[in-house]
Amino acid sequence: MTQSLILRRPDDWHLHLRDGAMLAGVLPETARHFGRAIVMPNLVPPVVTGADAAAYRGRIMAALPEGADFTPLMTLYLTEQTDPNDVAAAHASGLVTAVKLYPAGATTNSASGVTDFDKVRGVLEKMAEIGMPLCVHGEDTDPAVDIFDREAVFIDRVLDPIRRATPGLRVVMEHITTADGVAYVQANDADLGATITTHHLIINRNHILVGGIKPHYYCLPVAKRESHRQALVQAATSGDARFFLGTDSAPHIDPLKENACGCAGCFTATNTLSCLAEVFETAGALDKLEAFTSLNGPAFYRLPPNEATLTLTKGAPVAYPAKIQTGAGPVTVFDPGFPLHWQVEA
Ligand code: NCD
Ligand code: ZN
Repeated sequence: MTQSLILRRPDDWHLHLRDGAMLAGVLPETARHFGRAIVMPNLVPPVVTGADAAAYRGRIMAALPEGADFTPLMTLYLTEQTDPNDVAAAHASGLVTAVKLYPAGATTNSASGVTDFDKVRGVLEKMAEIGMPLCVHGEDTDPAVDIFDREAVFIDRVLDPIRRATPGLRVVMEHITTADGVAYVQANDADLGATITTHHLIINRNHILVGGIKPHYYCLPVAKRESHRQALVQAATSGDARFFLGTDSAPHIDPLKENACGCAGCFTATNTLSCLAEVFETAGALDKLEAFTSLNGPAFYRLPPNEATLTLTKGAPVAYPAKIQTGAGPVTVFDPGFPLHWQVEA
C-alpha cells in the first residue's frame, strides 16, 4: 500500500548557495523542493552591505531554472564595521531578512567575523528596535575550548550575555548540535528560535571517525555524541514552534573535502526531504514533519507559510545520485547510511 503525506512547500532557513558555477550547479537542487531559503552571506568577499546583498540576489535570480517557484531571503554578514543604518534600510526595503553573526574564525569564510562583541552593540540594538532577526553561528573560538564544547561554552560566554544586554533582540541559534542548545531554547521565550540540520538529526561523531575518517560527514559545528543527536531529534519532532529546518547544505567540491585539510560542510539539498521523512517516521512523528519543514520557520520570521504543497510517497528505496556535477566540480550528496523510502512526487 502506498502511503503519502502532503506538506506545505518547505523552506530552508539556513542555506549556502555560493556563487558563480557552484551557484548554478546547486541552486536547482534547492529550488526543486523549497519555496524560500535564508541564504548565507559567507562568500569571498562576504555579503556585508545592502548593495552587496542586492547584487548577490540578482545573481541568484539569474541562475534560477526557468519556472522555478523559489525566493531567496538575503542576509548580511555582520562585521565590526557594519553600519546600523545600512542594515535598517536594507531590512525596511524588504531586500534583507536577517543578519548573520560569525565569531571570527569559527567556520568556512568567517575571517571577517566578530572578535569584539562590544563593537557590534549599535547594530544589535538597532535590530532589536526594528525586530530584525540575528542568525548566530554559536561556537566559541577560544583555542583553549575543546571543539566538542564550543557550542555550550558560546551560550554561556557570548549568547546569553548578548541577549540579556539587548532586550527584544530576536535570535536564531543556527544549526544547533547539542542537548545544551536545545535546553537553552526551551528555557527561553519566542524571541529565541533554532534551526536544526538534516545531517545532525542523522549522524553522530562516530559516523565521522569510526572505521576511517569520513570527510563528507565533517561539518561545523561538528556532530556530537549520540545523546546530543537524540536530543535534536526530540526537539525537531516535538512540534515546538521554536525549532525549524535549516539544512546548512554547504557544498564544497570533492577535491576540497577529500583532502589533508578538508573543508567543513555537508551537501544535503538534494535528498533532505527523503531523509527527514525517514527520521520523523522512525521517531513516530510523521505528523510533526510539516511543522518542522514548513510552518515553524515562517512563523518565527513572521512570514506566511507557502501556499503550494508537496507530496511525499512511501515505496521502494529511492535512488539518489552519489554526486552532482557542477561547473565548479563534483559535489558529493549526503549519504544518510540507510535506505530512503519517501520520495517527493514530481
Ligand atoms: C559552512 C560552509 O561551508 O560555508 N560549513 C559548514 O560546515 N556548515 C559554514 C557554516 O555554516 O558553518
Ligand atoms: Zn551554514
